[in-house]
Amino acid sequence: MRKPLIAANWKMHKIISEIEDYIRKFISLVDKNFDREIVLCVPFTGLYIAGKLLFGSNIKLGAQNMYIEEKGAYTGEISPVMLKDVGCNYVILGHSERRKYFNETDEFVNKKVLTAIKFGLIPIVCIGETLQEREQNKTFEVLERQVRGSLANLNTLDAEKIVIAYEPVWAIGTGKNATPQQAQEAQQFIRQKYAELYGSIVAEKVRILYGGSITPENFKGIMSQKDVDGGLVGGASLDPESFYKIVMFDK
Ligand code: 13P
Repeated sequence: MRKPLIAANWKMHKIISEIEDYIRKFISLVDKNFDREIVLCVPFTGLYIAGKLLFGSNIKLGAQNMYIEEKGAYTGEISPVMLKDVGCNYVILGHSERRKYFNETDEFVNKKVLTAIKFGLIPIVCIGETLQEREQNKTFEVLERQVRGSLANLNTLDAEKIVIAYEPVWAIGTGKNATPQQAQEAQQFIRQKYAELYGSIVAEKVRILYGGSITPENFKGIMSQKDVDGGLVGGASLDPESFYKIVMFDK
């Protein structure tokens, strides 16, 4: 059984005081003995305080990006060791906004994935097609390329531990979520391609999240699909009560 994972991606939002308020509120809402995994992916400047506040809770900490080296002359970059140091368990890699605005390629994302694993972080690797690609019937072609490119060269043990996030670009921040059927169709395909790389036992274990305009209203339907194992939530995760409702989608 794959344990559901619901992750908040705050993107470039929230200063320290807002993070403190959010986390205090959120912890007070979340039950201790929880049958699902919750991750808050916080901007770099908030990771340290978030790590301190989350310590001892069952809510995990994640970053939103990472560089491929342990240390060195890479002005402005953040290393996996630094992320571990502030208490991160997870790191989002290859988000479509990084691919679009910072020209990250599958090859570069793959290097990041391998580095994250080497330093004990679990990568949440994002893939997904643009509207144009969907309209040109290239969705599967794009997803296959991204799976083979971004998720190459893992060993079997790591391959089942990583997390994949299917985030159709046209659904991100647009209020136009994929239908449960669209999410299922894409995620089933991703699992199939992953099985071709690492075998069906690994592919059955890997968690595939959906992301793109998730709300407390639409998440239950999306989660009802066989190959949807959780969510990566942007806008609707910025408010602790709204994110809590998403986390509790089936209650
Ligand atoms: P929204 O939930 O705001 O559409 O963002 C999704 C996303 O990009 C999560 O990584």
